[in-house]
Amino acid sequence: MGIIEEREKRVQWFMDARFGMFIHWGLYAIPGRGEWVMGDEEIDTPVYEKYFEEWNPDHYNPKQWAKAAKNAGMKYAVLTTKHHEGFCLFDSKYTDYKSTNTKCGRDLVREYVDAFRAEGLKIGFYYSLLDWHHPDYPAYGDMYHPNRNNEAVKNEKRDFNKYLNYMHAQVRELLTNYGKIDLLWFDFSYEGHMGEDWRGTELVNMVRELQPDIIMNGRLEANGESYGSVMTDEPNIFSGDFACPEMIIPMKGLRTPSGKKIPWEACFTMNNNWGYTPMDLHRKTASQIIRKLVECTSKNGNMILNVSPTPKGEIPKWQLDILAEVGEWMRENGESIYGCGMSEFEKPEWGRYTRKGNKLYAHVLDECVGALPLPGVKGRVQKARRLCDGSEMLLLTPWVAKEFPGYEFVNYGNPEYYSFHIDETADNVIELTLKEKTEVL
Ligand code: GLC
Repeated sequence: MGIIEEREKRVQWFMDARFGMFIHWGLYAIPGRGEWVMGDEEIDTPVYEKYFEEWNPDHYNPKQWAKAAKNAGMKYAVLTTKHHEGFCLFDSKYTDYKSTNTKCGRDLVREYVDAFRAEGLKIGFYYSLLDWHHPDYPAYGDMYHPNRNNEAVKNEKRDFNKYLNYMHAQVRELLTNYGKIDLLWFDFSYEGHMGEDWRGTELVNMVRELQPDIIMNGRLEANGESYGSVMTDEPNIFSGDFACPEMIIPMKGLRTPSGKKIPWEACFTMNNNWGYTPMDLHRKTASQIIRKLVECTSKNGNMILNVSPTPKGEIPKWQLDILAEVGEWMRENGESIYGCGMSEFEKPEWGRYTRKGNKLYAHVLDECVGALPLPGVKGRVQKARRLCDGSEMLLLTPWVAKEFPGYEFVNYGNPEYYSFHIDETADNVIELTLKEKTEVL
């Protein structure tokens, strides 16, 4: 089997799942100015460590997080076991800078794994390749390190290879001590820190040996702006199993130059930040999120939606409310998302199609005047039902449609040229049963 075929097999559960939860949580929740605060504000380690002294998430109850994810219709989760700040949410033998050494004294990763696994969700680990706390990670002159401009550390001797030993050892711990891990999300590569600079071949071989079924993103050689060799017809050992567009949905999905499907997962925040940011009030609505999930699905991609727990360990109420609302929609309409993908039919003006087997799902985002024209399926539809309740929709061509013979038409009621009220808040899904089954494109 070639690399692409093997990848296809490995990612099957992932691409069927379509919807996951990203969790960005770390010391940065305390300053509450985003997970990059240490780098952005060039905060020196001894100063930043005051958050470590203070860390005590006494409201942390990952069972509630897992329930919220499950009820939202999410099928997997990815937690930041260590972000760029270097603080470890797990009990690592190789550092003191870890949650078990804080006031809370808990292995936050272990509790997350147990809770999410108990809800039947697949388990993912985010692990930052960058580390602004480790004494051997390049500091002065680095592109991002908080001490990048700090002349005082200019002549410090830092041994990057020592850092790599540490990083490899931690990845080994994460993939050894917590049972089966389904997904590994490395973050991220940049000039001089890319692929083999991370001793990448050795790292990937270790990962695959410890967790043969795990799927990996491609940021061992990529980042948010370029997705690396996963985009080619000849992926390499660093390509990973899927591309991860950040805060963008690829316009037409992603394919290799020869037209093969590239598995991808778009990651989104609920406001504008990954880490807890109480002053960021630019909140997406549940309806927007549902529509974006539909868009990703209709282009063969996944959406991983971020939550940003507070320093005390709670997912903010407004985020829980959104998850609950998305979950209500998913309970009625999840069939049009899970296991679904791109259809061969052109994108309808009023919304999108998703497709699975002989079902074509019409996601109506924009109410029509009169009957809804269905592009591409003339003569191929057996029946039409509202997905939310199974009730009948009428396949009737209105008398005013004579000039448009290429379309099938569907209406919510009779007479067929009337308009009928639909709730436009999110997405009304019509399940179209086609006469024949064809593959998702
Ligand atoms: C990034 C950022 C980051 C975030 C992530 C999520 O490139 O560095 O803070 O964790 O990607 O996609």
